[in-house]
This record gives sequence, structure tokens and C-alpha cells, in this order.
Amino acid sequence: MFAVEAKNLKKTFKSKDGDVEAVKDVSFHVNQGEIFSILGPNGAGKSTTILMLTTLLRVSSGSGTIFGLDVEKEDRNVREKIGIALQDTGLDNLLTGRELFFTTARLWGFSKTDAETRTSELLQLVGLEEAADRRVKTYSGGMKRRLDLGLSLVHKPDVLFLDEPTTGLDPGSRRVLWDEIKRLRDGGVTIILTTQYLEEADELADRISIIDNGLVAAEGTPDELKALIGGDVITFTFNSDNEVKKAQQLIENSETEKNQLRVTVENGAEKIPDLLKHLSNNKLEVVSVTANKPSLDDVFLQVTGYRLEGAAEEEKLEEEVSENE
Ligand SMILES: Nc1ncnc2c1ncn2[C@@H]1O[C@H](COP(=O)(O)OP(=O)(O)OP(=O)(O)O)[C@@H](O)[C@H]1O
Ligand SMILES: [Mg+2]
Repeated sequence: MFAVEAKNLKKTFKSKDGDVEAVKDVSFHVNQGEIFSILGPNGAGKSTTILMLTTLLRVSSGSGTIFGLDVEKEDRNVREKIGIALQDTGLDNLLTGRELFFTTARLWGFSKTDAETRTSELLQLVGLEEAADRRVKTYSGGMKRRLDLGLSLVHKPDVLFLDEPTTGLDPGSRRVLWDEIKRLRDGGVTIILTTQYLEEADELADRISIIDNGLVAAEGTPDELKALIGGDVITFTFNSDNEVKKAQQLIENSETEKNQLRVTVENGAEKIPDLLKHLSNNKLEVVSVTANKPSLDDVFLQVTGYRLEGAAEEEKLEEEVSENE
């Protein structure tokens, strides 16, 4: 039996301006004890998928199951099996970390003594012992995310849903969380996490589903996904955008990005001399050339037609522009 299964999940939001198809057709399964990552850009439908699987949002059509339990028909039983750390948490800033753990444990039905024990265990697990008696509002972003993670574990769930657990964290805090997530997986917890970071999916996930525009664009282990591309990615760097454009016309199936040109070939080492010669015969000066195995970034580009990291940066710029207006 799968820990989690989504079968043709669909969610349509009705609004005055017409229907929004947030999730169009999403299917996947997650094996017990693995980290499964849903990777996709803003608005792809990641949170909506998580909300349906965690019984917090009704399914428009299709089905979701947790260890065979239907998320719509057996929602109470499902909720006992799962822990959730949502993207927008309403952490109570006036309480201390210790108080939050204790209260949550009491809400789950723990006795006072058991709630105290669980609180100490979890404060230790997520490394918040020293900050335990400070109000949550004084916590850093990384500490808050660790608190979220700890709170989702109070009732010892079998399956943990984490919606963008490291968004907005600095690289150091992100790594601390990654290590904690891996430790949980090694302890037998099944984990589904959404992310818009390629590096995060690559580092953490046993398997990845790339979601774009409410649909699954590709699924597999990081290595399987990279093997979809096959061969080596050669990158030529030029002095100007103009030269890149000329070079693109000379090399078949190449893609440009700023002053770089990329082309995927079967064997990079074999092909580079020919390509360099072809370029120099056409009076194009190459500043540098590299050959690499495909990255998840290349996979994302191939299956969706655009780059994830670039899209995130553009969005950020747009936000900054609109903030300045
Ligand atoms: N309650 C709602 N009503 C109407 N539209 C919604 C609602 N919730 C989400 N949407 C829309 O559905 C689409 C998917 O949203 P969702 O929040 O699932 O994306 P996401 O992949 O989690 O994005 P992000 O990375 O920004 O969190 C978006 O276009 C969003 O605007
Ligand atoms: Mg989201």
C-alpha cells in the first residue's frame, strides 16, 4: 500500500471573474519512508494539492488516499496519520515555543505529564531548547520554520506534509532544516514537501514530481529525471548578446541565455572541438566553454519550456518594482 496516493486530483475555484483551475490533473504515489518532492513555480498548484491531500480543502474530482484511507470520506482517520506544516502559518507570536508545544500536545489529547515530556523531546529534536522560553515573535525565520516542523510532529504522524519549508531562509538555516527532514525520513516518517528550489528537490527528494500549471510535467528520481535529457550540456560564453544570437543560428537545437549558448550533445568532449572550429570559422570569439552532466535545471527547462530559477527572479523583480511604485 502506498503512504500517499493522488489519482487525477483536480481543483477548480469558482470566482466572480470565472473559474480558476488551480489543479487540473495531478497523480502520483509516495512510498512509505521516502521523501517526495513536488517541485514547481509560483501558482503551479502545489499548495492546493497539499491542502486537498491533508483534508483541508475539498477535492473537485479525482481522489486522494493516505495509507488507503480516503481524504474525503475518512478525513478524521486521515488527520490522525498526518502532520502538516503549511506555507502561511498563523503561529501565535505571544506564546513561547514551550507553551506552543505544550498547548498543541494538550489539543491532541496528551495528559499534562505526557504533554510536558513531548514538549521537551520536540524542543530538543528541532534544536529550540535554548529559545524555548522566549516568545515566538522574537524567533528568526529559520527558528520559526523549525518550530512549525516540530509542531507538525507532536502527535507522531506517519506522513508529514511540508509546504515550502525553507522558502525565504538563508542557505545555512536551509541546510539545518534539510538535515532535520532527512533525520525524520531515516526515522521512518514519510515526507511530502513542496519547493520551488531545484537544489532542495535534488538534495532531499528520493523522487520528484515537477508540477507546472496544475499538471504533472515529469516524475522520477533526480537521476531518472536527468537521464531524460541524456548526454552532456555544453555551454559557450560570448562577449555580447549579439554574438550569441549569431552562434545560435550556426548550431542546431541550441538555446540562448544572456551571453551564453547551450546545446545538449551525446558526448561533450568529442563534440566541443568541432563546434569551436565551426564558430571560429564564422568569426565568433568564444570566451569560455564548459561541458556538464544535465542538472535538474536543464530537466525543468526541457519539460516546461522555461527556467524555474529565472522565473522566480523575474517575479521577485516585478514585486520590487510594484513595491516602489
Ligand atoms: N482560494 C482560491 N481561490 C481562487 N484561486 C486560487 C485559490 N487558491 C489558489 N488559487 C489559484 O490557484 C493557482 C494555484 O495556486 P497554489 O497556491 O496552489 O500555487 P502554489 O504552487 O502553491 O504557488 P506558490 O509557490 O506561490 O505557493 C494560482 O493561480 C492561485 O492564484
Ligand atoms: Mg504554495
